[in-house]
Amino acid sequence: MSVSSHTIYRKDYRPYPFTIERVQLHFALEPQHTIVTNTMHVIAKEHNATMVLNGEDIELQAIYINGKALTSYEYSDNLLQFKPSETEFDLKIVSSCNPSANSTLMGLYVSGQSFFTQCEAEGFRRITFFPDRPDVMSEYIVTIEADKKQYPYLLSNGNLISSQDLDNGRHQAVWHDPFLKPCYLFALVAGDFDIREKTSHTRSGREVLLQIYSDKGSGDQTLWALDSLERSIQWDEKRFNLELDLDRFMIVVTHDFNMGAMENKGLNIFNAVYVLADPETATDANYMGIESVVGHEYFHNWTGNRVTCRDWFQLSLKEGLTVFRDQEFSADMAARLLPPEAALSARTVKRIEDVTHLRAAQFPEDAGPMAHPIRPDSYQEIGNFYTMTVYEKGAEVIRMQHTLLGEEGFQQGMQEYFRRHDGQAVTCDDFVNAMESVYKARHSGKDFSVFRHWYSQAGTPTVNVQLDYDTHQQTASITLTQHCDKVGVEKLQADMEKKPFHIPFHIGMLNQAGQAIPLNIEGLEDITPTLQNGVLLDLKVPSQTWVFKGIKERPILSLLRDFSAPVSVIYDYSFEELAVLCAHDSNPFARWEATQELISREILRLTQCIQEEKSLALNPIIHQVWQHNLSDPLLDAAYRTWILALPSEKVLLERLHPITPLALNKALQFVRQSLATVHRDVWISTYQHYHAQEDYQPDPISIGKRSLKNLSLNYLLSIKDPEGIALAKTQYQQAKNMTDRMGAISALLHYADKADTETINQDFYQRFENNPLVMDKWFALQATSAQSVKTIRTLMDNPLFTLRNPNRVRALLFQFCMNNTEAFHQNNGEAYTFWAEQVIALDAINPEVAARFARVMDNWQRFAEPHKTQMQKALQSIAQQTALSKNTTEIIEKALS
Ligand code: PHE
Ligand code: ZN
Repeated sequence: MSVSSHTIYRKDYRPYPFTIERVQLHFALEPQHTIVTNTMHVIAKEHNATMVLNGEDIELQAIYINGKALTSYEYSDNLLQFKPSETEFDLKIVSSCNPSANSTLMGLYVSGQSFFTQCEAEGFRRITFFPDRPDVMSEYIVTIEADKKQYPYLLSNGNLISSQDLDNGRHQAVWHDPFLKPCYLFALVAGDFDIREKTSHTRSGREVLLQIYSDKGSGDQTLWALDSLERSIQWDEKRFNLELDLDRFMIVVTHDFNMGAMENKGLNIFNAVYVLADPETATDANYMGIESVVGHEYFHNWTGNRVTCRDWFQLSLKEGLTVFRDQEFSADMAARLLPPEAALSARTVKRIEDVTHLRAAQFPEDAGPMAHPIRPDSYQEIGNFYTMTVYEKGAEVIRMQHTLLGEEGFQQGMQEYFRRHDGQAVTCDDFVNAMESVYKARHSGKDFSVFRHWYSQAGTPTVNVQLDYDTHQQTASITLTQHCDKVGVEKLQADMEKKPFHIPFHIGMLNQAGQAIPLNIEGLEDITPTLQNGVLLDLKVPSQTWVFKGIKERPILSLLRDFSAPVSVIYDYSFEELAVLCAHDSNPFARWEATQELISREILRLTQCIQEEKSLALNPIIHQVWQHNLSDPLLDAAYRTWILALPSEKVLLERLHPITPLALNKALQFVRQSLATVHRDVWISTYQHYHAQEDYQPDPISIGKRSLKNLSLNYLLSIKDPEGIALAKTQYQQAKNMTDRMGAISALLHYADKADTETINQDFYQRFENNPLVMDKWFALQATSAQSVKTIRTLMDNPLFTLRNPNRVRALLFQFCMNNTEAFHQNNGEAYTFWAEQVIALDAINPEVAARFARVMDNWQRFAEPHKTQMQKALQSIAQQTALSKNTTEIIEKALS
């Protein structure tokens, strides 16, 4: 198996030799046989060039140039090619496709009773023949024709020009999008829906119609999404000075979707999980997810649509930037209306969540076979590059530019970016150039030449910190030394030498009593003062030292505050130093970080003890810290939840060499149980204090209370505390919202004996059988609490399970393989074989989702035996398949290389 010859390189980019000014599409919609007539107005940019069009899984019926049938063309390997004799002409292509048979969910497909499209990245070629690349931008006029009774709503991008009834019970609608766009932003929807709408006014006073289309009967669950949309519009005006450019903005819900949502111009299409919510069926996390994804897709209207990508290697240009924007939106929304202290805490909680997500999923990616720079140099299948690296690390790279420039400078850079590139398809370099122009002006000519290495190099750099304290001189010297190993494809490039990164490194110092030490930066270079008596060190070389004067005692270092760069810090803390930071660091992010570092060291030590079959005991310092933070009256509930929680298992696994998943899982359990046992009464009283039966509100204060309450329940149930179990059962039964119901059932299913949970488990099923989003939660609960593969196989036989629905597959299969360490990694290797079977089955249905699922084994080489060999066998069994998709082939091939 080797398809590496299919590799596409960034350096091979060539502009398309034709302009396609206008695209007129006509759709005659039938589920099994849809006819698409595509008339393009083409202008040649080069003399004598060949016109190359993509087409996949569609049937070519006819081609005309200026109305005359074209006969001399070549059509093979999904490429249609010919040499036009004219320099300006109308090219008309008729083709057909079968949307109801399209299980890939790319191109035109049927979900429920409705038609949907998904074109990013390369789905438009499954609809019609076209140069399917983002740098070909055109004006679109779309006519949709379909049965009126079955499909009363016919939607596409832009403005509705006309609609009329036709013969035979059919009707049609014509849409015009006045903005030039690449074909990946095209969208069409046809079906019957509930509609929730609202007129709103933009800052300049223009009236805009905001609409949400969702499946019949779900219209009462779209209020939060519509409000989130309005808040997004207002926020982008206020913080980024960007106004909605359309008269109408639509969101449509589908239950079958490969990803979260899609930013098609004026017609966003959303996975139902990111739109539908009411208190009875959606958790706090769902509410927050909706707000952030609605924001994300809306923000793409400027960062992605008005300015788009030149080629798919530039994906992070729109995704990294838009994730940064949605993170800031969520943080601003959480902090809104709160007094300064509480606002800082709310922003920090959001930052903690984002950083945890990055460490749990992006750090492993950056250390594995799929490691790539945020702007990759090559790929086989672009669908595989919608990664944590492009999105989340991409957002961190934007955030560092924000840190270096400050809010005002960053906004100036954004204005400059739009001034230069509005309406264009551009590169990541173009973005950095705009930001750099502001940076140079503000920092006497300093540039971003070292900073750009974040775009060209992969891997998580480590920063080694050394403190030299001189009692006589009263100086503290801080030396930062960076290092980054070659990862992924870099390893194959013998002549490649890794260059240093530009790392903004935010630090502070505390004295032994935990008070902040003011830092004097006089005479120091590459340094800027920050809040909470901190400083930002600008590391641009392999190693640099900063000497701070007037430091009266050996300081305790507060490092990488607010996670100012996506790096790992190495510093030899004592437990006592960490304990001081855990209780006193005035930077709330760093204070949380200290709790995590302290307990992580202990969990890793205990993991080792388990391996060596030694007896286990928890360092008493941990208990002191937890005791202090459990009762610190200055901390709000949301933040307190995070500093009392245990680190993510995924983050911890990354720190094991080799990875021993079962031992780590045991160590985590041991630590959870000791903290539960020793502080048992405080957990009970904390639970009672925060357990209020208020009307449901998804605001940060109420969310915080629910999360601390549910955390307490988790600790209590980890020791099967009888009172805790009783509290959980009552909470389940009396729950008025899904967060409470889920908190209770989840703790019960994961920790209590089966006898204690069966009735509740069945009750949940029967109560919500008809709600697919809640059934996804039920499947996920079963998947993460199952004790063996057999349970999962039985669940696959449940009539509600299907491999065709990505949400259901993610709920059962992904959850089992990614979030059930005990059962997935059991020593017999049975679950690995099961995984391989399912990758193969899924690949025949939906390659995009299968390839994502295939990544479960990315880091197999770092596992201890017997896992490693068993995982390798499972991977090889997939590699031996003959009809594997390009998507899955790339993943498996890279994993085994
Ligand atoms: N562009 C979408 C987003 O980030 C994600 C997406 C990619 C959706 C590919 C579908 C297909 O908002
Ligand atoms: Zn996006």
